[in-house]
Amino acid sequence: MEKAILHHNDILEMLDGLLREPKLFWEGFYEDRDKEIPFFKAEGPDENLAVYVQNGLQPGRTLEIGCGPGRNAIFLAKNGAKVDAIDLSEKAIIWAAERANKSQADINFGCISLFDFNFEPHTYDFIYDSGMFHHLPPHRRLTYLEIIKAALKPGGKFGLVCFNTDGALPTPDWEVYRLRSLKGGIGYTEDRLKAIFKDDFNFLEFRKMKKILQPSDLFGEDFLWTCLMEIK
Ligand SMILES: C[S@@+](CC[C@H](N)C(=O)[O-])C[C@H]1O[C@@H](n2cnc3c(N)ncnc32)[C@H](O)[C@@H]1O
Repeated sequence: MEKAILHHNDILEMLDGLLREPKLFWEGFYEDRDKEIPFFKAEGPDENLAVYVQNGLQPGRTLEIGCGPGRNAIFLAKNGAKVDAIDLSEKAIIWAAERANKSQADINFGCISLFDFNFEPHTYDFIYDSGMFHHLPPHRRLTYLEIIKAALKPGGKFGLVCFNTDGALPTPDWEVYRLRSLKGGIGYTEDRLKAIFKDDFNFLEFRKMKKILQPSDLFGEDFLWTCLMEIK
């Protein structure tokens, strides 16, 4: 029998049901490590993240969400952060843990969805998301924002890397549900992205990621926005 809608979370789950099942999708995505996916080839951190640290960001207690094969978590741990790194996909976490072992980086990995993640409120100095947010359906953005706000310490920082409109189609929110598809992720304009975060965060930096040719110690693609924010 179908579940009744008794709580707000039931509405979110009903809307989830209109779209592809994320865990199944991401496990399939990581099936073949030799695929031509830009961030499969690169092992280095995002170029913007390296700049933040160079410019004095002290990540401290850090949470990486949607950490994938661990490039950024490893970099942050190597730069003195105490890192919790989570991802929905077991295959991604296994890959990340292998890389972390090889680099002798001490990271607390968790295979769990952000939406099921239990954390001590206001624990993190820094939260980082490289490439997860643009894969979320619009109805999950509000919960996403609530979680980030509840997990950050006062004055905490939030780094986000997400598709610009060269990275994916700028599908409007309502269209996602009419089409029953995220079409491989949402490409955000600057205005659309800032409208989501501007009430709760100050933007410290907002720019396109620099394209970095591989092989390199850094990762960079110019179809992505990079943003560094501070909670208000
Ligand atoms: C484009 S990949 C980016 C991976 C990694 N951050 C990188 O840049 O190398 C997006 C990641 O988000 C993860 N993801 C998607 N939805 C998630 C959720 N609700 N909770 C945790 N991780 C999620 C996927 O499994 C995938 O590893």
